Amino acid sequence: MNICVFASGTGTNFEAIVNSIKKGYLSSKISLLITNNSNSGAAAIASRNNIHLHHISRKIFPDISDLEYSEKFLSSMNKFNIDFIVLAGYMKKIPDEVISKFRKRIINIHPALLPSFGGKDMYGTNVHKAVIESGMKVSGITIHFVDEVYDEGKIIFQHCCEVNYDDDEFSLQEKVKKLEHKYYTEIIKKFEEGKVSVVNGRVVIN
Ligand code: GRF
Repeated sequence: MNICVFASGTGTNFEAIVNSIKKGYLSSKISLLITNNSNSGAAAIASRNNIHLHHISRKIFPDISDLEYSEKFLSSMNKFNIDFIVLAGYMKKIPDEVISKFRKRIINIHPALLPSFGGKDMYGTNVHKAVIESGMKVSGITIHFVDEVYDEGKIIFQHCCEVNYDDDEFSLQEKVKKLEHKYYTEIIKKFEEGKVSVVNGRVVIN
């Protein structure tokens, strides 16, 4: 697959995917990083690995229409013949035109077990804090398709970890990140192998 990663933050998931390509575990290529923050860790990872970076944000295009704004994303990805999008800590809304052009070819990872602990403000340590405060004994990761409603696309894969009494949001985040780095690449591999399909409204991995 010819992948475009969207990322805004430190980029540890992005880096884990880059490393699995380097090791030959994945056969895809990451041709482009789209970010809304060119000072992010993700941007630095792209430049260290000679991955093209496009900075697209409303701050640099404040006056164009929504349609023209989505064209910025689509024409960037067209230039590189992108056929799959991986969101890895992208903090902005994806334009609907991009989602509909890449239907079933755009995935996200969320640091909790959706449909709980998703939506507005559920990012970073906020999520883990909310999980701990709820008293839940397990948390984990959710990899899902992206559709027009935030954090509500069909669930592709989940994996749990325990929430122990002495966990705080930071230790839980560390546990969850380990799962993210391991399983995001594994699921991308399933897409490479054509093993992910939607049957009767549910995702099946063969
Ligand atoms: C991850 O926890 C991911 O689940 C969420 O954003 C975070 C990104 O972390 N969508 P990083 O920038 O990859 O370290």
